[in-house]
Amino acid sequence: MAISYHRPTKIIVDLQAIKQNLKNELAHNQGKDVFVAVKANGYGHGAVPVSKAALESGVTGLCVATIDEAIELRESGIDAPILCLGIVAISVLPLALTYDITIPVATLDWLYAADEALKTATKPLNIHIAVDTGMGRIGFVHPEDVQTAALFLDSVETMTWEGIFTHFSTADQEEDMYWQKQNQRFQEVLTQLPRLPRYVHVSNSATSIWHDDLGNMVRFGIAMYGLNPSGTALVESYPLYPALSLVSELVQVKQVPQGEGIGYGKTYETSEEEWIGTVPIGYADGYIRKMQGFHVLVEGQVCEIVGRVCMDQLMIRLPKEVAIGTRVTLIGKDCGNEITLQEVAEHVGTIHYEVSCLFSERIPREYI
Ligand SMILES: Cc1ncc(COP(=O)(O)O)c(C=O)c1O
Repeated sequence: MAISYHRPTKIIVDLQAIKQNLKNELAHNQGKDVFVAVKANGYGHGAVPVSKAALESGVTGLCVATIDEAIELRESGIDAPILCLGIVAISVLPLALTYDITIPVATLDWLYAADEALKTATKPLNIHIAVDTGMGRIGFVHPEDVQTAALFLDSVETMTWEGIFTHFSTADQEEDMYWQKQNQRFQEVLTQLPRLPRYVHVSNSATSIWHDDLGNMVRFGIAMYGLNPSGTALVESYPLYPALSLVSELVQVKQVPQGEGIGYGKTYETSEEEWIGTVPIGYADGYIRKMQGFHVLVEGQVCEIVGRVCMDQLMIRLPKEVAIGTRVTLIGKDCGNEITLQEVAEHVGTIHYEVSCLFSERIPREYI
C-alpha cells in the first residue's frame, strides 16, 4: 500500500511518552528484563522507531508475532534479542536461525520435527517453552509434556532452552480468581522441571502493573504506548502517557442549506443552514464507518462526524466557517480538549488495542 505522504492526514507518535512509560515500568519492575511487544507494527505506532526508542530506554529485547516482523527489525539494524510469540512452521526455522530469532515451542511433535530439521545447522536455535495454563491459545497443556520437552531440549545440540512462559487471560480484570488459578498451574509446572531456564515470564502489561508475578522477564506491550490495559476498569499504578495522535486538515468547507443530505445513503440531513467540513481520512485508513456520530476537534471545539464515513473522506459539522487547512484532531489534544483512543474504542464497541492496530499503512507516521 502506498503511504500517502502528500495528504495532510498523519499519525504523530511521541517517542518521549514511550520512553517515559518505559522509565516508569523499569523502575516498577526493577531486576526484571523487560521485552517490549512491538508486534502488529508496534500496535500501529511503527515497529522500528518504537523498538529503537525502547532499546534506548534500557529494555532488553523485543517481542513480535511473526518471523517477518522480526526480520523487519533485524533489517533496520536492530541486534537486540527478539522473541517471536507465535508458532512458526518448521520450514521457516532456517530463517529464524539466520536472523537470530527466538522461537516458542508448544507441542512435542513440533519439537522433534525441529530437531530433525536443524540437524545440519551450524548453531543452536533459541527456544522458549510455551505453557497453556488456561488461555486456550498456544502452549503445552500437560505438565508431563513440559517436563519431556525440557529434558529433550537439554539433551540435544540443535536447540538451546532459554525460556519458559505462559500468558494470562484475565490479568486486566478486578476479579483475580482465574489469574490465581493460571498462576498456580504455572508454578506447579515449574516445580516439576529439572532446572529453570534463563527466562521465566508470565507478565503482559496488566500482570506487570496489577499482580505480583513469579517471572524474571516482562512482555510489556500496551502500557508502553501509554494506554491502560484494562481500558477504564482498573487504575494504573503509575501514570501512563499516550504516545499516539491522529490529525488531519480540513480540505473543503462549505455552507450547506437546510434539508440537504450529507454522505452515502443520506443518513444525515442538515437541520438548518450548516457549515460542513471535509476531512481526508476514511475507513481505508482504519477510521471505520462506525465512527459516524463520534466527533473530532477543530480549534479545540467538538465537531460531530456527520453522514457515513467514506473510504477516504469524512464530513464534520463545524460551528462556524473555518479556513481550509485548519487542523483536525481525531485522536489527541487540541487547545485544552482531548480525544483518547479509549473514547474511540468505546464508541465503536471495542478495545483501544484494536483501534490503533487497525490504522492502515496508508497513514504516514511522524515521530517527535
Ligand atoms: C503472549 C503475549 N505476551 C505479551 C503481550 C503484550 O500484552 P500487553 O499489550 O497487554 O502488554 C501479548 C499481547 O497480546 C501477548 O500475546
